[in-house]
Amino acid sequence: MITVNNAHKSYPSHQVQALTNITFTIDTGKTVALVGPSGCGKSTLLNILAGIDTIDSGEVVIKGQALHNAKPETLTQFRQYHIGVVFQFFNLLESLTVFENVALPLHIQGGHNATSINNAVNQILKAVELDNRANFYPSQLSGGQMQRVAIARALVHQPALVLADEPTGNLDSKTGKTILTLLKNLCAQQGTTLVLATHSDAVIAIADEVLRLDDGRLVTS
Ligand SMILES: Nc1ncnc2c1ncn2[C@@H]1O[C@H](COP(=O)(O)OP(=O)(O)OP(=O)(O)O)[C@@H](O)[C@H]1O
Ligand SMILES: [Mg+2]
Repeated sequence: MITVNNAHKSYPSHQVQALTNITFTIDTGKTVALVGPSGCGKSTLLNILAGIDTIDSGEVVIKGQALHNAKPETLTQFRQYHIGVVFQFFNLLESLTVFENVALPLHIQGGHNATSINNAVNQILKAVELDNRANFYPSQLSGGQMQRVAIARALVHQPALVLADEPTGNLDSKTGKTILTLLKNLCAQQGTTLVLATHSDAVIAIADEVLRLDDGRLVTS
């Protein structure tokens, strides 16, 4: 599903070598925890897997699509169809309802009629147990509810790969565990590969594999 070969990423303007010689593969359907101290390169690597950022040298291939030499419009389209992202601070749009936030990836993709959008959104809102909050705005939700909306939005277009950056970092540990289990189960149902950047032992506990970064390098744990 994911092949990363000899990847390097620097921010020359700030003389930061963010990732050095990164090589790994991830099989379809696996849940992988990306761990390591603050500043080690976890978010950088997730952004690269999402096609939001690019590497300086090396290869990144996801689902047969090479990202390292792809044009920006190819990356954008790849992301719209195959990637779902869950952010630490949820990143919901405040002026849109829960329903509208979750529908967004389908609108951005285009080509879906109102009925199919309704069906897909209602189905995933049921799965995260928020069908009774469809018309609420994000400011009217609890933190755990906001994160469940963010999960619904990441999964509504049935991506092959879900990337989550500290998805439970802003929740109490009990809510975090519940949400993590929900995310993992939904991904399992769809056969979705899940990569989570985290500091949390609870996340590491539910992972099939752990990738450990230190100062931009993969270390064997
Ligand atoms: N746009 C940028 N310009 C310059 N340096 C950057 C940029 N983005 C990230 N960095 C640097 O790259 C390194 C890796 O950052 P990254 O955000 O990937 O760390 P992280 O492992 O996600 O940390 P945390 O656990 O704190 O979220 C850091 O030293 C950071 O300062
Ligand atoms: Mg980070």
